[in-house]
Order: sequence, then structure tokens, then C-alpha cells
Amino acid sequence: MAATGGLMFGYDVGISGGVTSMTTSWAKFFPTVLKKKNEDKESNYCKYDNQGLQLFTSSLYLAGLTATFFASYTTRRLGRRLTMLIAGVFFIVGVIFNGAAQNLAMLIVGRILLGCGVGFANQAVPLFLSEIAPTRIRGGLNILFQLNVTIGILFANLVNYGTSKITPVGWRLSLSLAGIPAVLLTLGALFVTDTPNSLIERGRLDEGKAVLKKIRGTDNVEPEFNEIVEASRIAHEVKHPFRNLLQRRNRPQLVIAVLLQIFQQFTGINAIMFYAPVLFNTLGFKNDASLYSAVITGAVNVLSTLVSVYSVDRVGRRMLLLEAGVQMFLSQVAIAVVLGIKVTDHSDDLGHGWAIMVVVMVCTFVSSFAWSWGPLGWLIPSETFPLETRSAGQSVTVCVNLLFTFVIAQAFLSMLCHLKYAIFVFFSAWVLVMSVFVLFFLPETKNIPIEEMTERVWKQHWFWKRYMEDDNHHIVNGKINNGASV
Ligand code: BGC
Repeated sequence: MAATGGLMFGYDVGISGGVTSMTTSWAKFFPTVLKKKNEDKESNYCKYDNQGLQLFTSSLYLAGLTATFFASYTTRRLGRRLTMLIAGVFFIVGVIFNGAAQNLAMLIVGRILLGCGVGFANQAVPLFLSEIAPTRIRGGLNILFQLNVTIGILFANLVNYGTSKITPVGWRLSLSLAGIPAVLLTLGALFVTDTPNSLIERGRLDEGKAVLKKIRGTDNVEPEFNEIVEASRIAHEVKHPFRNLLQRRNRPQLVIAVLLQIFQQFTGINAIMFYAPVLFNTLGFKNDASLYSAVITGAVNVLSTLVSVYSVDRVGRRMLLLEAGVQMFLSQVAIAVVLGIKVTDHSDDLGHGWAIMVVVMVCTFVSSFAWSWGPLGWLIPSETFPLETRSAGQSVTVCVNLLFTFVIAQAFLSMLCHLKYAIFVFFSAWVLVMSVFVLFFLPETKNIPIEEMTERVWKQHWFWKRYMEDDNHHIVNGKINNGASV
């Protein structure tokens, strides 16, 4: 139920590209793009280079990143569950604005409200999932969030494919159907119980223990309960969560969380997720072909995420990220080469064979993202911060993620216009950098209980352990792990 927050996020990610490429919506809101598209003298790569159009996609992420700071407060003080409920309400109101939009302003206001929903949901849901999960399957369970993101994207691609034929209200229908995941999330938030960690953090110890017994299916929860109580005692000593996050001992988690988000977005995934129909259109595909190619990449995205659900707690996080690095790099270089040779400013006749090759390469790229950076970008930060910095850490994570999602959304069509095929070389260079980072700096967190990360991960890592030295605080943690103080 909780993971339906991902469904809503995914739907918002997936819906804008198709709507953008629907002529009926342009005619109304983006007259200049329509004019440009019909003029032959414009370069193929520049047909969609329009700030207003990009703003429609990107405004959501800008609002989302602002909302995360409020969401940090509500997840800590009101709990994970109520934060999800707030998200659901934002989503519902946003959908109403979008579905009923009479002008660009209503459209943007709607997107902003949806963005607030994303800010609250993406803060609460991954934390919720990591905290209720038994260690053994924490990765897999947390990835249900990402699985829902991909299902949301696919659902949006399918809807766009269907509604593009319904003129002139297709785009309106596309935007209104977001109401389904919005209602699901709201109902979900009404039914689920809060996490034991959050209940205990807010002083509701008995309730927390009862929930722990229920979700672990045993009465023998004393050790875990005590661990959470101790983590929460430490968390209460923290008066300024964000200032605390900047302290030296929190540096490893913070640096990793921030870099993972930047890297996730600089894989270039959202160039595909937001603008696949537009991109395929640029390559000379007809409108219909563009939209169903987006459906194909959407389906590959969902299926490949399942690979991650299955393997993340078996082969581990690092293995998935490193394998995907190689696969993403090669497919992006291949796309760049084909586009470089075949698509020039005024000729976009790819030919059938090459067109299929591009779609296959895009799918190869999407699949490797889907079992690595997609889910792990969200999983790793949610499981590495200690309770005292978890809410603040997660809100920085979401904020940075949405900031860079915004950057890609706002810049991609212009970058495509200026860099042309080399845009894919640009992304492949980033993939190289992030893979090297994973190789040397990202520790494996598979099968490590969430409140034992400091002892078993950070203090053991060749580089990060220097940040853990002479730190009283973690001597306390050390005792917990040795069982002495509890
Ligand atoms: C990312 C989104 C992206 C999606 C694609 C998520 O993990 O945060 O930006 O659109 O994956 O499946």
C-alpha cells in the first residue's frame, strides 16, 4: 500500500512526454512549438527546444524539492504515515487542477501541487519501507517503491498511446487519470500503521513494540526494540537535524546520498523517460510509432526492476551498479554513433533497421538502469543514515534528486538542440565517473541491520573509517552492538 506513492511519482514522470508530443495540447498552450514543428527550416534536433514546454515538465520537480524540507519536519514529528496522507491530498488537488486546466497557468499550478505531493511521498515512502522491512529482504521490499515508479511510468505511456487518438481532449484525459494512483495512495495511507521506529521516536513506546511484534510475527522483539529505543534516544539529543547532518561523523552517508542522486540523474534516464516520444519523433518516427516505442521502453523498465527486487539482497548493491555501468556506457555510445551518422540537421531518415537498433539500444540502457541506479539511488540512502539523521538525510536525498531531475527536464531539449547526438556521449562520460566512484567508495550494505551500519559498514571501510574516529557518539553505538549498554 505504501509503495503506491511510487505509482504516483512514476505516472507524473511518464505522462508529460506523451502530452508534450500531442499536437492538440500544443495548439492550445504552446503555439510557438507548433509553428516551429511545421517549419522545415528548423533543425531536427531543435524542434522541441522551448522553455515553456520544458517548464511544464520541470515545474513539478522544482515544487517537489521545496516541499521536501517541510516533509522532513512532518516525517519526524507527525510520522511516516501522516506524511504519506498529506502527499495523497496534494496529489488529488493537483490532478483536479490539471484535468480541468483552461490555460497554461492552471496547468503549471497543477504540476506544482503534484510536485508537493512527490516531495512528501518520496520522503516518507522509502523510509517507511526500509523501517518495516526485516533485514533479510529490506532491499527487495524497498524496491517495491521503484517498481511502482516504473509501473506508473508504463501506465502513463499506455494512457498516452490511447488518448493521443482522442482529439481534442486526449491530454486532459491523460492528466486526469493520475487521479487513480492519487486515490490509491491516500487510501493506503489511511490503512497502514506507522513504523515502529517512528512511533518510538515520538515517544509511543508501547504502540511501537506492539507494531514490531505484529510485523515481525513474533513476541521475541526485545533486542530490536531496544536498539530502536537507543537510536531514538540519540535522535532526541539532536536539536538541529540539518546542522547535525553536516557533522563530520555523518559525512560518509551524506556525501554518498548526495552523489548517488546526482549520478542517478546524470545517467540520462529522464532524457528517455520524459522525452522518449519527443526523442523518437526527432529521429523521424511518426507520432504513433513514437508513442508505442515509449510503451516498449516503459515495459522493459518494469520487467528489469523485477530483476533487482530478486537479486539485490542476493548479489548485493555493488555488483548490480557495476554491471549496469558497463551496459549503460556501451549502449549510450552505440546510440551516439548511430545518431551521429544517421541523423543530421535536416535529414532524419534513419531507415527501418537503424530505427530498430536505436530502440533496442535504448531498451538495453533502460534495463540496466532499472536494476541498478533506479532502485538503488533510493534504497541506499534510506538504509544508511542512522535514525538521528534519517529524516533530514532523506529530505536532502529527495531534494537533490528532484533538483537534478529538474535540471535534466529543463535542459534536455535545449541540450539536444545544441549537442545533438553528442548528448549521449555526455551522459556516457558521467556513467564512467559514477562507476569508478562505486568501485572505490560505495560500501556493500546487503544483509546489514539498519541500526548497525555504523559499526559494520562505515567503521570497516578503507576510506570512510577516518570519519568515524574519536567519536564518542559511536562508542555508544558500539556498546549497543556489543550488547553492553542494552
Ligand atoms: C528516478 C526517476 C526516473 C525513474 C525511471 C527513478 O528512480 O528517480 O527520476 O524517472 O527512476 O524509472
